[in-house]
Amino acid sequence: MPLLEVKNLSKSYGVNEKKVIAFKEISFSLEKREFLSIVGPSGCGKSTLLRVLMGLEEQTEGEIFYNGRPIREANPRFAMVFQSPSLFPWLTVEENVEIVLEPLGIPHEERIKIARKYLSVVGLDGFENAYPKELSGGMRQRVGLARALAVDPEILLMDEPFSSLDSLTAEALREEVLLLWSDPSIPPDSVILVTHNIDEAVLMSDRIIILSSRPGRIIEDHKVNLPRPRNKKDPEFYKEVDYVVSVLSK
Ligand SMILES: Nc1ncnc2c1ncn2[C@@H]1O[C@H](COP(=O)(O)OP(=O)(O)O)[C@@H](O)[C@H]1O
Ligand SMILES: [Mg+2]
Repeated sequence: MPLLEVKNLSKSYGVNEKKVIAFKEISFSLEKREFLSIVGPSGCGKSTLLRVLMGLEEQTEGEIFYNGRPIREANPRFAMVFQSPSLFPWLTVEENVEIVLEPLGIPHEERIKIARKYLSVVGLDGFENAYPKELSGGMRQRVGLARALAVDPEILLMDEPFSSLDSLTAEALREEVLLLWSDPSIPPDSVILVTHNIDEAVLMSDRIIILSSRPGRIIEDHKVNLPRPRNKKDPEFYKEVDYVVSVLSK
């Protein structure tokens, strides 16, 4: 049984002539320990799809199954990383992570321990008491990642998490996310990454779902057959990138 199964999922906004179909008839499954990317042109419904999977919005049609059971509301085993994290400017880095654990009924001391653990995991040791405005963009994104990991998610949903970072910082964070994913002792087990960066999708994923322009439909569910760790200079890597680009531009 797949960890996550999406069947015939559609989402539209508005009615009649004002109706906007964000995505249409999306079906795919995600296995435990799988890294899946979703690529597609801007406006094809990628962010909306992640919000629906996360339970932040309701689909118009279709069904989402998690471990074989339909899900209808926010799932605590999912966590999401956004393009830029909305950190509370009046809270320290540690408090920004700790605060997501409050609704889970975890005692204060335990919350602090968990927050420190994941700040360390993302390389922010020593910045616990800093305020968001004192951090670089890359460091803020690390806080966003620590905050997502702190809830021990089985599935991590990421919406263009590296696109606002400079290329060196983005490269470093990609490697870190891959390390976290490949380490069974740290969350997450599975990842769904939305990106418009094809190199990034090929570098990171087991599979790439390629969406058409709006309304987004699946053009192809493509398996990336490259050994890990992947090397961007490998001719086979280029071939994969070229292939995905060619499907996208059909
Ligand atoms: N809350 C909303 N109300 C109305 N239309 C929306 C809303 N959110 C997204 N859309 C529309 O749905 C489409 C898909 O948007 P989005 O999921 O952000 O695309 P992507 O992330 O692929 O760029 C766009 O046409 C967008 O304008
Ligand atoms: Mg988007």
